[in-house]
Amino acid sequence: MSNEIPRTMRALVQNEDHWVQVKEVSVPALQKNEVLVKIEYAAQNPTDWKHACFMSEPGVQSGNDFAGTVVSLGDNLSTPLKVGDKVAGCTHGGIWKDRGAYAEYARIESDMCFKVPEGTKLDEAATFGVAWVTACQALIDSQKKPFPTEGKVPEGTWYIIYGASSSVGLFAVSLAKAMGYRVIGIASPHSFSLVKSYGADEVLDYHDKDKAVAEALQITGGGVEYALDTISEKGSYEFTLALMGDKGKQLNGILPIPEEVKKINPKINVTSTLMYTLFGREFNFTPAAPKDTIIPASEHDHQFGKEIFAKTADLITKHGIKANPVSLKGGLDDVPTGFQEQKELKVSGKKLVYKIAD
Ligand SMILES: NC(=O)c1ccc[n+]([C@@H]2O[C@H](COP(=O)([O-])OP(=O)(O)OC[C@H]3O[C@@H](n4cnc5c(N)ncnc54)[C@H](OP(=O)(O)O)[C@@H]3O)[C@@H](O)[C@H]2O)c1
Repeated sequence: MSNEIPRTMRALVQNEDHWVQVKEVSVPALQKNEVLVKIEYAAQNPTDWKHACFMSEPGVQSGNDFAGTVVSLGDNLSTPLKVGDKVAGCTHGGIWKDRGAYAEYARIESDMCFKVPEGTKLDEAATFGVAWVTACQALIDSQKKPFPTEGKVPEGTWYIIYGASSSVGLFAVSLAKAMGYRVIGIASPHSFSLVKSYGADEVLDYHDKDKAVAEALQITGGGVEYALDTISEKGSYEFTLALMGDKGKQLNGILPIPEEVKKINPKINVTSTLMYTLFGREFNFTPAAPKDTIIPASEHDHQFGKEIFAKTADLITKHGIKANPVSLKGGLDDVPTGFQEQKELKVSGKKLVYKIAD
């Protein structure tokens, strides 16, 4: 790989038509604690097409999840990365003109990425972005449990993951098992073997709610204290609350919670997280919408984001956290087609990963 850094690069940029296109833009300048990463793989999340359609303003860069090689260093790095290190993680795409993973180069905070451990393929490492940190935010930070590197939940504790075949769901299954939980995943029958291969003890079909609820209550002996709903819409909160039974304490979702959902079972705290708070910067979540949604900076969340990335390599190599199944696509020009596929709900049980460079 050439070490020469050009002044401009190809990147996926928001256009005037609520969509994205490849454009020539400046290679981003580095600020304190940042490294320049030559992107080799970028992985796709639903947030990418949602930003393009509803949230991003024209001219901003797109894309969050990446893996690549450090090619230059900014000042005062919190994590002592070197030129040539292979790193992966996520950035805050869809909102800034000089941050995005669907690009030949990206500026990345040295402590918001991880050095890819030996034995992990770079395309798989690229999946440890938005979905991975979201699973950690819900199961560990929000539900106040230790990372598997620090401790385990009491033996025999059941945990329910609704939407277990999703990208967040598969990371959550893997993480919950590493935390010591016995896991029930809720998914389509065509994903049962996939979800089991990530460690789930039981998998139930979401297409028959009554049967799934009866089976979950029977398997768990009356319900669970904690659960995660990775779908968080179309009745999934109501479904997951029923699966939790009378023992429920906290249900985590990852999309906004309708007020009526909070009233279904007042004993259960229904709460949600937003992974972008892990970057520790205030931002407007909906700059292209009629009404702004200002998300304040959270120092707590920023510290937790750094903690996730400091621990990720060990969680992969020593605690068995598995990457999402990779569906490898072509380069930057293929990304809009992938957005459309995910928008049409045609992506199931796999992560679309783009090969940006050799
Ligand atoms: N708050 C945050 O920070 C945050 C972070 C990450 C993601 N999210 C949001 O969380 C959601 C999931 O993201 P993701 O990347 O994990 O999605 P994803 O991988 O694209 O999810 C697709 C999977 O969801 C399953 N699914 C769809 N509808 C379902 C339902 N009603 N019940 C059960 N399973 C269902 C599909 O299974 P089938 O094969 O059965 O269709 C498919 O396997 C998205 O809305 C995303 O925007 C939020």
